Amino acid sequence: MADLSIDFCGIKSPNPFWLASAPPTDKAYNVVRAFEAGWGGVVWKTLGEDPPAVNVSSRYSAHYGKNREVIGFNNIELITDRSLEINLREITQVKKDWPDRAMIVSLMLPCEEAPWAAILPLVEATGADGIELNFGCPHGMPERGMGAAVGQVPEYVQMVTAWCKKHTRLPVIVKLTPNITDVRHPARAALAGGADAVSLINTVNSITHLDLDRMVAYPIVGEASTHGGYCGSAVKPIALNMVAEIARDPMTASLPISGIGGIGNWRDAAEFIALGAGCVQVCTAAMLHGFRIVEEMKDGLSRWMDTQGYADIAAFSRKAVRNTTDWKYLDMNYQVIAHIDQDKCIKCGKCYVACEDTSHQAIARAVDEAGTRRFEVIREECVGCNLCEITCPVDSCITMVPQESGKPYMNWTQDPRNPRAEPAPAAAVVEQAGA
Ligand SMILES: Cc1cc2nc3c(=O)[nH]c(=O)nc-3n(C[C@H](O)[C@H](O)[C@H](O)COP(=O)(O)O)c2cc1C
Ligand code: SF4
Ligand code: SF4
Repeated sequence: MADLSIDFCGIKSPNPFWLASAPPTDKAYNVVRAFEAGWGGVVWKTLGEDPPAVNVSSRYSAHYGKNREVIGFNNIELITDRSLEINLREITQVKKDWPDRAMIVSLMLPCEEAPWAAILPLVEATGADGIELNFGCPHGMPERGMGAAVGQVPEYVQMVTAWCKKHTRLPVIVKLTPNITDVRHPARAALAGGADAVSLINTVNSITHLDLDRMVAYPIVGEASTHGGYCGSAVKPIALNMVAEIARDPMTASLPISGIGGIGNWRDAAEFIALGAGCVQVCTAAMLHGFRIVEEMKDGLSRWMDTQGYADIAAFSRKAVRNTTDWKYLDMNYQVIAHIDQDKCIKCGKCYVACEDTSHQAIARAVDEAGTRRFEVIREECVGCNLCEITCPVDSCITMVPQESGKPYMNWTQDPRNPRAEPAPAAAVVEQAGA
């Protein structure tokens, strides 16, 4: 049986599944039930200075799929709306009752040293295992010079991180905002400030949809709305890329990462870990489906690790980083061609329309003697773009088959078709590509 326990920058946890700072970790009642369900740790809902924040009604909206499944979730909530004293008291009690679980306290304070110096000893006194700096909240708090207003300026990230390192011995995790052009800059700044780890992503600026009768976006507050923070399944690709960017960056490659964003099952978690994360955090999936989703996450991950022969999380952590490279290092001689399994094909024609209208006219449509439609790939025309495979509604009906070209690895920097080709020694380039 695989060992799911982790040591994340000195913080021990029985499994890599933590609840992210948000309503699921808002109070002792929730956190205790989460621990009973099996979560390895929590990042407590962000604390700030008193008086506590005040929230509006309503607060959430969603981007729905065709069957009303929630693809993305949007919120305009602020940090905790309960007093610092109540939160600290509850954190102390929960940590005392659940000593083996990771307890991280999220903090957001003004960009001045004194408030940080004042709050950190109070947090340390709770027995918490670490702190997370919320530099990511995209709404409400930036207007007050906090949250994303700090996270978007690397110099501020470094400065505040350094204050925290000065005033606490607890591990400091810096939570990054995705609302920035290049996430590597605040990650480097966090490291320069002495951060023990980064966590990402916080929510993405968003407006999900409108009430077109009232001409106002959701969530509606009276007659108006405001942009919120987007999360849930839809943001997973953005988060995975940002995690990989930091893991690949030579300047931050050694920085532990807590992966967040759209994680809803064990496979999502395994992907984040393979691309650089040492643990993962979950918010929206728990809000939509309850705390018990962690059971499937733990079971699924553990079973998969057993089938792969991974004894512990470290055995596959960062394993996909070396295979994630810049476009210019991809193999120009690699070729795949679509193949349609005629036994599985339901003759819907979706692949034909997609390829005919918007790709390379590489699928032929024919009607046989029995009047049955048949779709065939024209191998000579297929560029292997994957579009037909993506549009096909039948699982594994279209597969992309690698072709034997007999040609060696050659990337764009070496390609004679590239007017700026650099005659680089192939071995060195292959090494850079992680091939
Ligand atoms: C309603 C709501 C409230 C949130 N509040 C906080 C917060 O107080 N502090 C924080 O750092 N992140 C907060 N977040 C962001 C989450 O911690 C997390 O970074 C984000 O939702 C992405 O993860 P997910 O896709 O699993 O939801 C909040 C998210 C939601 C949906
Ligand atoms: S892979 Fe692209 S080019 Fe080839 S058949 Fe499919 S859609 Fe057409
Ligand atoms: S989309 Fe798939 S099922 Fe539909 S015709 Fe093409 S191969 Fe067949």
